Amino acid sequence: MTDVVCIVLAAGLGTRMKSGRAKVLHQAAGRSLLGYVLAAAAGLQPRRIVAVVGPGMEEAEGAARAALPDVAIAIQQERRGTADAVAAAEGCAADAARTTLILYGDVPLIRTETLFRLVAAVEAGAKLAVLGFEAQQPTGYGRLILGSDGRLCAIREELDASPEERALTLCNSGLMAVESELLWRLLPRIGDGNAKHERYLTDIAGLAAAEGVRAMVLRCPQGEVLGVNSRRDLASVERQFQERLRDAAMAGGATLTAPETVFLCHDTRIGRDVLIEPNVTIGPGVIIADGATIRSFCHIEGAIVAEGAVIGPFARLRPGAEIGPGAHIGNFVEIKNARLAAGAKANHLSYVGDADVGAGANIGAGTITCNYDGSAKHRTEIGAGAFIGSNSALVAPVRIGDGAYVASGSVITSDVPADALALARGRQEVKEGWAARRRAGATARKGQGKAK
Ligand code: UD1
Ligand code: MG
Repeated sequence: MTDVVCIVLAAGLGTRMKSGRAKVLHQAAGRSLLGYVLAAAAGLQPRRIVAVVGPGMEEAEGAARAALPDVAIAIQQERRGTADAVAAAEGCAADAARTTLILYGDVPLIRTETLFRLVAAVEAGAKLAVLGFEAQQPTGYGRLILGSDGRLCAIREELDASPEERALTLCNSGLMAVESELLWRLLPRIGDGNAKHERYLTDIAGLAAAEGVRAMVLRCPQGEVLGVNSRRDLASVERQFQERLRDAAMAGGATLTAPETVFLCHDTRIGRDVLIEPNVTIGPGVIIADGATIRSFCHIEGAIVAEGAVIGPFARLRPGAEIGPGAHIGNFVEIKNARLAAGAKANHLSYVGDADVGAGANIGAGTITCNYDGSAKHRTEIGAGAFIGSNSALVAPVRIGDGAYVASGSVITSDVPADALALARGRQEVKEGWAARRRAGATARKGQGKAK
């Protein structure tokens, strides 16, 4: 356990998002911004983590508890700035640890290793350590103003900065570690004499410097501290997370033919020798085992793909799909809440929902499991080695026995025993010479017409 208390500021409305929901609840790679920040903080094993949310932000509170059940919640009654938000946490945080680490809920790419560096700086004697970065495009960020000795003198918000200060490219990430005693002593002295009339946490740097306190700046790459204030920022953060996830998949032994076109989720698990072709989207809760192939244009969420299975191109796996070892799911096939055992195949144009499909079964093109009767869902069972002819409708609940055959075009409404053949379609009638007679009749009628 690290002797630190983490305060995560998450009460801001983020008005520039133009959204009905709190900013920190917006998602990147399938997880809320707040969820990432809490996970990074939890990696430190701190004495306590406090999330500061606004009044009426039950959804944010719920998201925080879902990500971290023992998180403490503090409410900031009015959104009067980041210093005011920290003050709202005083009751739960002030006596919790020697060092306080402040994180912003809208800075989600932060890594636990960097948090350790900040805390270590304070433990080594710096009373205040601020995480900064060199920005290619500093607009919107607070600027870090250093003295000639390299120490931090002040943090200036963009709106309050002089043109010279705006020209600085060393920016404030928003994250800082501070000796708890110093934080709670200086915080009440922060006023709101600035362009936004808010109480800025960043003013603590100037107050500390005025006391002759050792304050330092630690640097990290911009990619780790992008702040989300707009939808555009959210897209940048998504891009960064996707890059990390793709790199991790490739480092783990997967081939991504065109990584920039593959979209993963924060919890995607991908094995070795997996091949993912271009243009694939993977949502939450997906596991892809060793040697599986995901061909182009697949959409997969909540699904498990076992070793050596082949999915796609153009397949959709929905939650509860479990594709067995070596099974094949082909183009325009949708699988939902269904298990396909080893070697089963559904290669073309099918819907398999609420079903169990046995090993080696073959589901012909156009097969539909009719799982929904308008009010309830029912299961379809297809035995091992069964063969379902093309364009069959299996009306659930129904069971097709092991090794049974269903003739093409059948509408199956009752169980088929093992090794039987079920035919459930109109019998074919053949009328010899009918087409020729029809043509001859038509020709004769045309001739009469001309004679008139
Ligand atoms: C802040 C920093 C800026 C830094 C940038 C990095 C201040 C004054 N400025 O600016 O120096 O470069 O982050 O991304 O801190 N929040 C509350 N209650 C409030 C206001 C904000 O909880 O009353 C929370 C927000 O939910 C957000 C975080 O604090 O998670 C930062 O607030 P935001 O308004 O986004 O500040 P920035 O303008 O981005
Ligand atoms: Mg921000």
